[in-house]
Amino acid sequence: MEIVVYSDQYFSGVKTLWQEAFPGDSPWNAADFAVPAKVKAQPDLFLLAVEGATVAGSVMAGYDGHRGWLYAVSVLERHRGSGIGSMLIKEAEKRLEALGCVKINLQVRSTNAAVIAFYQGLGYDVEERVSMGKRVGRFDG
Ligand SMILES: CC(C)(COP(=O)(O)OP(=O)(O)OC[C@H]1O[C@@H](n2cnc3c(N)ncnc32)[C@H](O)[C@@H]1OP(=O)(O)O)[C@@H](O)C(=O)NCCC(=O)NCCS
Repeated sequence: MEIVVYSDQYFSGVKTLWQEAFPGDSPWNAADFAVPAKVKAQPDLFLLAVEGATVAGSVMAGYDGHRGWLYAVSVLERHRGSGIGSMLIKEAEKRLEALGCVKINLQVRSTNAAVIAFYQGLGYDVEERVSMGKRVGRFDG
């Protein structure tokens, strides 16, 4: 298993991974839309765990000059529990730190609270915040 930066040869693997890990996710989070968008913005922070042609895991990170963010943290079910998720997060953290980032945030859906233990094991704390969001621009998906 190695960690690589995303390239187009892995597109279908990412799509399969995200469909399995995030069933029923919003259409704007689907690989067809989100991957090309990420490739245009800090592509070196889109990391995959790959074994041959298989994409076993992913993390999409971003640094906006103030905070780092993690998205699309996922590992194929059959590869879970062997440290791949942790490995991806640690590599993303290393890259964010190298950019000057001093704080990393992420969001967990309330319906996915079990995964909080995974992040706590990696040093993330639950912080008292209310997450807000607003859709802007046009989504043609
Ligand atoms: C969360 C996820 C990426 C973890 O990947 P993974 O490769 O299995 O994680 P690791 O093997 O590195 O696990 C590290 C530790 O976290 C724990 N852990 C992993 N997933 C967990 C979960 N869902 N709930 C509780 N603990 C979990 C592991 O037991 C392990 O503990 P240990 O070090 O004491 O053995 C994976 O379960 C996944 O893809 N889930 C579905 C997608 C998802 O919910 N992503 C997060 C969106 S916010």
